[in-house]
Amino acid sequence: MSKLTILAVVVASLGLPAVAAAAEVEVMFKFYCAQCHGLGGKGDGPNVSPDFPVSPRNFTSAEEMNKLTDADLKNVILDGGPSVSKSPMMPPWGKTLSEAEVDALIRHIRVLCACKGKQG
Ligand code: HEC
Repeated sequence: MSKLTILAVVVASLGLPAVAAAAEVEVMFKFYCAQCHGLGGKGDGPNVSPDFPVSPRNFTSAEEMNKLTDADLKNVILDGGPSVSKSPMMPPWGKTLSEAEVDALIRHIRVLCACKGKQG
């Protein structure tokens, strides 16, 4: 194996999957969440109309998002708004997304808020 080949193998096994995973979660967010939560997570997606009884959470607000633990996020994403006494406008995703996908989305939301969330 030439040095170049070895480098390519290392890049393929370390670097690229991480990049792919980051890109994948953005695609996932765009596909499933952005129509309500907005591409940048501000809760201003094209699906949100004035007759929405509640606005989708603004994920860029560290103040709001620090009130919730990652476990809180996971519950509401998997089981939907009503499971945590929130609006049914937030659909449950447990049948659509795997737990690993939901975990990736939670990490993405934490990037959007630039916050760690409530610890606990
Ligand atoms: C059909 C519109 C819609 C879609 C699609 C949607 N959401 Fe929501 N989401 C909402 C609304 C509305 C709320 C606010 C519910 C409330 O506060 O009562 C919400 C709330 C949430 C919350 C809870 C925030 C909190 O304060 O407890 C999280 C987390 C969340 N959404 C994540 C997601 C993720 C991740 C996706 C994509 C997999 C997604 N949502 C897709 C409408 C949507």
